[in-house]
Amino acid sequence: MDTRTSAAETAAGVFSRDRSAANPFVLQPLPYAESALEPVISARTLRLHYGKHYEGYVEALNELVAGTPFADMSLTQIVLSTAKEPEYATVFHNAAQAWNHAFYWRSLSPTGGGFPSHALKLRIDSAFGHLEALKEELSIAATMQFGSGWAWLVLDGAKLRVVKTDNEENPLIADMKPLLAIDVWEHAYYLDYQNRRADHVHKVLDKLINWDFAAENLGAA
Ligand SMILES: [Fe+2]
Repeated sequence: MDTRTSAAETAAGVFSRDRSAANPFVLQPLPYAESALEPVISARTLRLHYGKHYEGYVEALNELVAGTPFADMSLTQIVLSTAKEPEYATVFHNAAQAWNHAFYWRSLSPTGGGFPSHALKLRIDSAFGHLEALKEELSIAATMQFGSGWAWLVLDGAKLRVVKTDNEENPLIADMKPLLAIDVWEHAYYLDYQNRRADHVHKVLDKLINWDFAAENLGAA
């Protein structure tokens, strides 16, 4: 198995599936109540985001992979094997969005924000100088992403970096390991913030971002 596949799936632990089922890709449960992220993200936004958008990607993926070799692959394997393959663009779109959202739910926490663990703090200080500089980079990436996409904290080789991706693109396909994700598709914030994406992102970083999840993915918990 590709080492990126193994690392991403075992560290994050968010991509379980049922190989025996007709629809092998299952919704990963929200790790908190729909209202738990209020007032930064309303229950209404989270209900629609999880129950309509995320569920839609997973359902479409199950329909697309039925009876194909993709049905026996892990979600990460599908993402990696369909990226940049025009023939499988629709499979990639839904698989990557299923992956990204399962990862995003865990990137937020009702007890998030605040400060990272000591081990992660040392890595952040080494790469960015201090936590506020990292938050500023994430904020700029999330705000400057033109149109739909994602802002990420990643491990690129041995170095922590902030990157942004268009639409459903995922850093895994550029050989980077995701540590945290911020969804900046309008469906993630528009009901609560309309066009004020920067306001949403600042509040997510101050109140919800899950540094413990980043540390877990980095192996620095
Ligand atoms: Fe989303």
